[in-house]
Amino acid sequence: MALPEQFIQEVKMNNPIDSVMSGYANLIRRGRNAVCLCPFHSEKTPSCTVYLENNSFYCFGCGTGGDVVTFIMKIENLDYIEALKFLADRAGMTFPNEENDVRAGIPKARILEMNRAAARYFHDILKNSADGEKGRRYFAERQLLPKTITKYGLGYAPDDWHSLANFMHSQGYKDDELVTANLCDKGRNGGVYDRFRDRVMFPIIDLRGNVIAFGGRIIDGSGPKYLNSSDTPAFKKSMNLFSMNFAKRSDERRLILAEGYMDVISINQAGFENVVASLGTSLTQEQARLMSRYADEVIIAYDSDGAGQNATHKAINLLSAVGLKTRIIKMEGAKDPDEYIKKFGAPRFRQLLDKSAGAMEFEIAKCRSGLDISTEAGKVEYLKRCVKLFSEVASPIEREIYISRIADETKVHKEMLMQQVNGAIKKQINAEQKQQWADIRTFRDTMRSNPEAYKHPKEYKAETGVLAFIAAYPEDAEYVISKLSPEHFVTSFNKKVYEAIIEKTKKSAFYDILSLQSEFTADEMGKITEIAVNGKNVNIDRTTVDDLINILTEHKDDQPGADKLSDDDFRDYFKKLQSRK
Ligand code: GTP
Ligand code: MN
Repeated sequence: MALPEQFIQEVKMNNPIDSVMSGYANLIRRGRNAVCLCPFHSEKTPSCTVYLENNSFYCFGCGTGGDVVTFIMKIENLDYIEALKFLADRAGMTFPNEENDVRAGIPKARILEMNRAAARYFHDILKNSADGEKGRRYFAERQLLPKTITKYGLGYAPDDWHSLANFMHSQGYKDDELVTANLCDKGRNGGVYDRFRDRVMFPIIDLRGNVIAFGGRIIDGSGPKYLNSSDTPAFKKSMNLFSMNFAKRSDERRLILAEGYMDVISINQAGFENVVASLGTSLTQEQARLMSRYADEVIIAYDSDGAGQNATHKAINLLSAVGLKTRIIKMEGAKDPDEYIKKFGAPRFRQLLDKSAGAMEFEIAKCRSGLDISTEAGKVEYLKRCVKLFSEVASPIEREIYISRIADETKVHKEMLMQQVNGAIKKQINAEQKQQWADIRTFRDTMRSNPEAYKHPKEYKAETGVLAFIAAYPEDAEYVISKLSPEHFVTSFNKKVYEAIIEKTKKSAFYDILSLQSEFTADEMGKITEIAVNGKNVNIDRTTVDDLINILTEHKDDQPGADKLSDDDFRDYFKKLQSRK
């Protein structure tokens, strides 16, 4: 689908990169730019730079970069058109040609429509049909009120191989559509059969109110307890949270994270609108990020069993990594929040939330668990674990507080403990330096895997410089193009970029090197941004660009390549390339 260039420009203008990115990362203003912890790889010091003047970003750590559209493509895992749509939506703009959204042959809109019809069907059976009696009894036993059932649009899929399929056929949906939507599976003899049978149904609803998938719980009999929709063109498990459509409306800036659908519904019914769960898998980074858009703090209310506690530990890490504060509730006398609320009531559950302790308390308790610290051996092991834990705390003040507390508790000298922690930190720094060397080696290997660049490092640098120059001064592109033809490029990727630029300049007056997304993948856009960003720091002007052009036009195929460099030369070469840092 061809979109008017004008529209694309407006979408970008209406979505300043800092405001978009601050939904995913904590931006810190630094002069004309801003920096943040890179949302695309995990790190402790910020290496992602946001360039406010030209609406772009680049991470020196992992090489991801681009403009605001590339950012959304990567972080929301969308294709180019979807990313534009996402941003248009965000800015309240109307997207031209809404219906043209086609992936995998079947439009996403069509799948959403099918899901909605199926959700209505399941709900209707639960409420009104004789077949729904089993489901009604089940939810009554679990003490769900009719208004909760309506609110969540819960349903029942009858014990029948074709009841949904027949209904959907009557509504004009075809077999291949039902299979793509994951509502039916293909039978051996060509037909299709219902995926969900004799299960109570939980529709999964996205932030815009679309039914994007289903979870179905078994009532009795065999098979997995929960059957969830697999990913479809309209659904990505790892990117959505159950009940987020309700939770986002609460203005608490605080979310409760539970493990199961039933826990969420129970907690919600007990009067807490701000509760969510992941969808049949453990929490993902994307889900953590999604929560950070709506909250500053997350209270983890996972099951009290071992699995739940391990999952809690993982969730703390994921949530902290996106800057969320975490608290953990400690449930006694019940295996999960659903049971707790039934046994002790909503007010007691609220007390539990209010009493919930910070993540460090949880982690320290975890260090202590299974140990008898009245014995020497138990105490030593406990301290060892604490030292490791504290060495990962970034703030020295916080570290000191925890160290004092444990010193008091175990009657060990605080200074001793402090020394141990500092030693552990030093070890980590050494390990990081080792990692840097490993990175250099990896870089060298990548260079080897790009033999064109490796063989002609000088020309490679020259052509990269030329591209950087064009990125910085689009008005001079014509000048470069008049003097340099693509044939003079030594690496095919740079050549492809250059050719794309030539095409662009032919077509439109206002082009920008970062808007080549329609021709390049998001990863390639990262490389292009890297070129543009580096060029800015090197300051190539019209005279230097002439030199670069000369290097390329005079290049003959017989100079020594980087494959001839010694280890130390190579390190210098690498450092020079990195010196933009
Ligand atoms: P109840 O047993 O009805 O109270 O369900 P629950 O929602 O409390 O679920 P539970 O604590 O057993 O499991 C937590 C979550 O893990 C569920 O809500 C599902 O999302 C997921 N889950 C549980 N069992 C299965 C399974 O067999 N397959 C898959 N894919 N997911 C499951
Ligand atoms: Mn449960």
